[in-house]
Amino acid sequence: MKIVAVISRKGGAGKTTLSINLALTAHLAGWKTMLADIDPQRSASDALRARTAAGPTLAEINAGKLFQARSQALHDGYDVMLIDTPAAPDADVAVAVNSADLCVLVCRPTFLDIASVARSAEMVRRLGKAGLIVLNQAPAKRAGLEPVNVQKAVEALRFCGLPVAPVGLRARVAYQQSVAHGRSVAEWEPASPASQEIARLWSHMAAQMALDGGRSAHAV
Ligand SMILES: Nc1ncnc2c1ncn2[C@@H]1O[C@H](COP(=O)(O)OP(=O)(O)O)[C@@H](O)[C@H]1O
Ligand SMILES: [Mg+2]
Repeated sequence: MKIVAVISRKGGAGKTTLSINLALTAHLAGWKTMLADIDPQRSASDALRARTAAGPTLAEINAGKLFQARSQALHDGYDVMLIDTPAAPDADVAVAVNSADLCVLVCRPTFLDIASVARSAEMVRRLGKAGLIVLNQAPAKRAGLEPVNVQKAVEALRFCGLPVAPVGLRARVAYQQSVAHGRSVAEWEPASPASQEIARLWSHMAAQMALDGGRSAHAV
């Protein structure tokens, strides 16, 4: 089983949006998937409960129960576990990072987000974990050119000591609308740019985690 912790110490960066989309992408790809929501705000749980179709198993737990949930998921033959985390406290984020095979650090292209990600990256490295920085809510290109704040963010993030994902997510209404129905952007708008960027991000992550050795036999 591969465990992905989605973290950012800033509220609103996009942890829940990304956790839901990645969990649904894994589920729709045929992996037996659990989404552990350790944020007391329970936004990921609210979103998944709005879902009418079958989906990932939801574990609404506090950070202290994560170890137990992981053992249970291993025992039950899960392939993938996504952890949606709160911005704080430190100890809860550290528990998620410690459990993870890959930590996804979500970052908007702003000075304050980047400063915060630099600190999170340090924590991930200190705990000896693999990490991937994902730029989220990037404004659209203008006349084919990357906005200056996105260019600068990518440059600054290169100094965080963790790789920056080759695909970031743009600010798109589809992310807001689909989550309200507990659906991924791929279900909401198949073949849309949003759906393509999530698919590319997931395949990059799956390759990084070596989640390709034999597709799960579990039916979706
Ligand atoms: N790529 C995106 N495009 C548009 N809106 C987004 C995107 N990512 C997140 N949002 C919106 O930003 C807000 C915060 O996102 P959320 O996932 O709840 O962040 P967090 O869990 O880090 O607090 C939500 O209203 C969400 O719909
Ligand atoms: Mg959240």
